[in-house]
Amino acid sequence: MARRRELWTESEPGANPFALPRGLIGHLAGWIMARANRAQNTEVAGFLGIGDEEDVLEVGHGPGVLIELLARHRGVTVTGVDPSSEMVRMALRRNAEAARAGRVRVRRAGAQATGCEDASMDLVVSVNTVAMWPSLDDCLAEFHRVLRPGGRSVITWHRRPARFALTVEELSTVEEAVRKRFGAAERHELPSSVVFGATK
Ligand SMILES: C[S@@+](CC[C@H](N)C(=O)[O-])C[C@H]1O[C@@H](n2cnc3c(N)ncnc32)[C@H](O)[C@@H]1O
Repeated sequence: MARRRELWTESEPGANPFALPRGLIGHLAGWIMARANRAQNTEVAGFLGIGDEEDVLEVGHGPGVLIELLARHRGVTVTGVDPSSEMVRMALRRNAEAARAGRVRVRRAGAQATGCEDASMDLVVSVNTVAMWPSLDDCLAEFHRVLRPGGRSVITWHRRPARFALTVEELSTVEEAVRKRFGAAERHELPSSVVFGATK
């Protein structure tokens, strides 16, 4: 069977408005994702079991639903990065109050260069973005760089609907790359997401 597309190439995610939302169509894609992916982002937030006082980086936050869920925890600060200006605007609007209070920061950047300081985060999480990264190894190196010792990296992707799921081969590629960078990798299957976890 033909592959759907080349993953983890150095090229941009292309014209798919869900992969890199731009302009009016991108805004619409963000609106759809905020609704369609809310249950999955809620599931991921539950899985994270976030404690008080954690510094969290979300990579590829899209419309900002997970930021909103995480920022509800006392003492938690959430930094969001996304290469889409449209998604940065949407996430800021959704989290305006938390941003004003200094608990949420959002800026335009990608998984390969988040702009965060070395060892400044307790958790780096990314939901439904790993297939858009230009290079798995470079992006995982960036996650590792920004994590404090003992910090967690959590990468998740859709399990449902089946047409969005990664192939068995692609899932193994992600798991192997995480293992190579962090020394160990865990894979969990939640109802809506496959999760790759690792600790620095
Ligand atoms: C399918 S959406 C997922 C959005 C959100 N995390 C969710 O689950 O609803 C993919 C997101 O990844 C972002 N993205 C694309 N290329 C990226 C990259 N190189 N690094 C980080 N995020 C990227 C897009 O701008 C988009 O917001």
